[in-house]
Amino acid sequence: MRKTIVAGNWKMSGNHIEGAGLAGNIAKGLEGKSPGCEIVLIPPFTAIPDVVRTVQGSIVKIGGQDLFYEEEGAFTGEVSGAMLTALGCTYVLVGHSERRHVIGETGDILRLKLGAALRAGLNPIFCVGEVLDEREAGKAADVVSGQVRDVLGGLSGSDLAKVVVAYEPVWAIGTGKTATPEDASEMHVVIRSALADLFGPEAGEETVILYGGSVKPENAGALLEVPDIDGALVGGASLKAGSFLDIIFSVR
Ligand code: PGA
Repeated sequence: MRKTIVAGNWKMSGNHIEGAGLAGNIAKGLEGKSPGCEIVLIPPFTAIPDVVRTVQGSIVKIGGQDLFYEEEGAFTGEVSGAMLTALGCTYVLVGHSERRHVIGETGDILRLKLGAALRAGLNPIFCVGEVLDEREAGKAADVVSGQVRDVLGGLSGSDLAKVVVAYEPVWAIGTGKTATPEDASEMHVVIRSALADLFGPEAGEETVILYGGSVKPENAGALLEVPDIDGALVGGASLKAGSFLDIIFSVR
């Protein structure tokens, strides 16, 4: 039985004071409720300590948006997996499309980052997704299964069990365009069969795969109802407690 996760990726939004305020409102909205999913907040690094303090005692888990692949040393500006676990993080994003396309991270770098996350005891949320040109050229399935094979292919089965995959079509991120539940479902099946090819049928069945890309309260219900979609990675709509809570409570 796969678990359902709703994760809020705040990206580079808000300082630590604003972050604590947002986390506090989310925690308050969850008081006395039993949501049908795990909830993960992914604030900017600078807000993590305050957010961790604010949600202490609640069911909310915390993740980092990125990590470096070395454990420590002369790597100015970078943050290690161990630094994130020391703060109380249990998840970390690896390969978000903004890291791939704005910062220029390649499969080689992401493979190293994924390994570093696992060594630090974090659960990586590994993001994959095609750009618009690739979708229009009918290459979405090949691109996405290629990303899965390239970065996850060398893992052991026990490491794969700690990985969450997020399918985020790049053309749907922050654009207001969402994949239809049918399109998303098709791509989740593509990812499951790539995983089954690499690791066997159980891995294909058991890996948690989230959808991301303009998820909002209005479309969350229909997306989360799809059997192969195990939750949502939410950007913009996670920046307001009300809309993030509405997405959480649309999990049935
Ligand atoms: P969005 O972002 O919900 O604002 O489209 C999703 C993401 O980038 O994870």
